[in-house]
Amino acid sequence: MNKKYRKTIIAGNWKMNKTASETAAFAAELRELLPRRPGCEVVLCVPALNIPTAQKALKGTRVNVGAETMHEAASGAYTGEVSAAMLSDVGVKYVIIGHSERRQYYNETDASVSRKVCAALAADLTPIVCVGESLEQRKMGVTMELLAYQLLSAFSGVAEEDVRRVVVAYEPIWAIGTGETATAEQAQEVCAHIRALLRKKYNATVARGVSILYGGSMNTANAAGLLAMPDIDGGLIGGASLKPADFTALVEVGGKADTE
Ligand code: PGA
Repeated sequence: MNKKYRKTIIAGNWKMNKTASETAAFAAELRELLPRRPGCEVVLCVPALNIPTAQKALKGTRVNVGAETMHEAASGAYTGEVSAAMLSDVGVKYVIIGHSERRQYYNETDASVSRKVCAALAADLTPIVCVGESLEQRKMGVTMELLAYQLLSAFSGVAEEDVRRVVVAYEPIWAIGTGETATAEQAQEVCAHIRALLRKKYNATVARGVSILYGGSMNTANAAGLLAMPDIDGGLIGGASLKPADFTALVEVGGKADTE
């Protein structure tokens, strides 16, 4: 099966949740619960301020502490922002780019997502690029076209040899934080479409090596069904990543999916 060519990734996205002390408490609990060899790549993206706390508290585990966003410029007059080099310098490997909440509340566009992806790669970070349609767009029947536009824009500056260093997350906006999940078949249809677009833009070898995650109310009840799909290689998990037991259970599902 082509899944052997790519990593299964279980990535948490805490959004604007948890103080530094709550982060340390979560990490202490997670250390106890997580399998020593999770069997899949484990990523936990936390607010930038809490990255060092999480890293320290998770030292010696297989958890990669990641970031939720970054600025596209190398440095300069961008009050409040964090650059790729700053993340890389503290040992961060993964950074979420273009989450729908960033697009919606902070005016991130397909063009800025594209620039951020290039900046992340140049700093040796692995961008987790989010794409996804709203309910209105799904109802209008333009999901596939919209996804193609978002995806091809995001990859517009990515050279063939760098594609494997990019992770894609398909996150239907209508499923984020709503408790409503795309069915495994709906999610598979879009993830297969994303892989086909990468195959067309690059080639089959490149496309089969890209991990494509599903995000949008993934939880312990639906994860196994989603991860059993041939083109779904993991999850980007918001709500269910905030509790150590739930996150651990999802990592266990990811570990099983990776070995199947
Ligand atoms: P959710 O969030 O799991 O709470 O739906 C997913 C995300 O926004 O990445």
